Amino acid sequence: MGSKKYIEKLKQLPTPFYFYDMELLKETLQTVTSEAGKYGFDVHYAVKANYSDRIMEEINKFGLGTDCVSGGEVRRSVECGIPASKIVFAGVAKSDEEIKYALKNDIFSFNCESREELEIINKIAGEMGKTATVALRINPDVDPKTHKNISTGKAENKFGISYSEIEEVIGEISALRNINIIGIHFHIGSQIRDLSVFKKLCDRVNTLQEWFIDQGFNLKHINVGGGLGINYDEPDAEPIPDFKTYFKIFSDNLKLAEGQTLHFELGRSIVGQCGELITKVLYTKVNGEGTEIALVDAGMTDLIRPAMYQAKHKTVNLTSDSGKCKNYMVAGPICESTDVFGKSIELPETKRGDLLTMKSAGAYGRCMSFGYNLRELPKEYFSDEL
Ligand code: LLP
Repeated sequence: MGSKKYIEKLKQLPTPFYFYDMELLKETLQTVTSEAGKYGFDVHYAVKANYSDRIMEEINKFGLGTDCVSGGEVRRSVECGIPASKIVFAGVAKSDEEIKYALKNDIFSFNCESREELEIINKIAGEMGKTATVALRINPDVDPKTHKNISTGKAENKFGISYSEIEEVIGEISALRNINIIGIHFHIGSQIRDLSVFKKLCDRVNTLQEWFIDQGFNLKHINVGGGLGINYDEPDAEPIPDFKTYFKIFSDNLKLAEGQTLHFELGRSIVGQCGELITKVLYTKVNGEGTEIALVDAGMTDLIRPAMYQAKHKTVNLTSDSGKCKNYMVAGPICESTDVFGKSIELPETKRGDLLTMKSAGAYGRCMSFGYNLRELPKEYFSDEL
């Protein structure tokens, strides 16, 4: 699995670039669809994790819907052939134009984040002669026990309608004639490895569900978002996340009402492990503290996760045949001190021209690249097209 198998072909390509193991992607999709299928759960792929055409094509082939956070992602989904009836739109601050576009395409559901947004969607839908189908995104105040920058479901976060406001919101909803409330939505955070967190989420959802039933609401859908994490430390030991245990937690703990469907919005767990960032060593040197540095041609502009979330992507030298290992600081070419992929990465003796790979970069990798320092965005190559 992975880039090693394709090394002779990869050596010919200009670096840095993203490489995707399409076999692994397909196996992952096979696993997620069959595990969710056991319980009749609906999976929407979180487009934000990776919106490459080739990835989207596979997602569509396996029959997944999508979860979008911008008009651009709704458009990409529509253009890739995802049926509108499987698209959810969960942006925290949707513009009028984005709302209009989604309404025009009759998407499955808006995940609505505030009272004011409900009013605006209602107004725009009225002007367009439409009824918007809406799920209320509720902030359940559950600690996802992950990096603070990717926590979304705590009371302090900007996401969702707060617990304290729900009653008022419900009181006002009947006046909003162009809105049809079809469900409730939650997303507590990303890269969640402690699965007991999802059980807590189920407990919260059960309590809220009872409350909604008491208020006379018949919710057709529950959407619990995404967040299932991947193994960044040892990607080869766990190339496919444990979807079996994940979905079972919801099946065992979430009390669905009669006829209700359960939806998920998974991103990282589907595409994270199939992608790698491949980069070339340009220079090696030793700094004033005696640390060996390998300077590579990929930077934080190509993979921002280490700089933004202190993420560690397992780094492997694909071409060195040295038996001697050393610790290196692996750093990029950008004029920023945070442009460092790792301060002490064990590698076989590494020299100019060696190819390094940073694993587990299929999610939030290429899609978060940017042009600072007037750099080109990295290209993408797919194993079945090499
Ligand atoms: N649903 C909503 C409403 C979301 O905001 C997200 C991710 C997902 C689903 C998908 O979550 P996943 O299954 O991928 O964990 N750039 C960060 C991750 C940001 C996640 C944002 N929201 C990173 O590189 O770690």
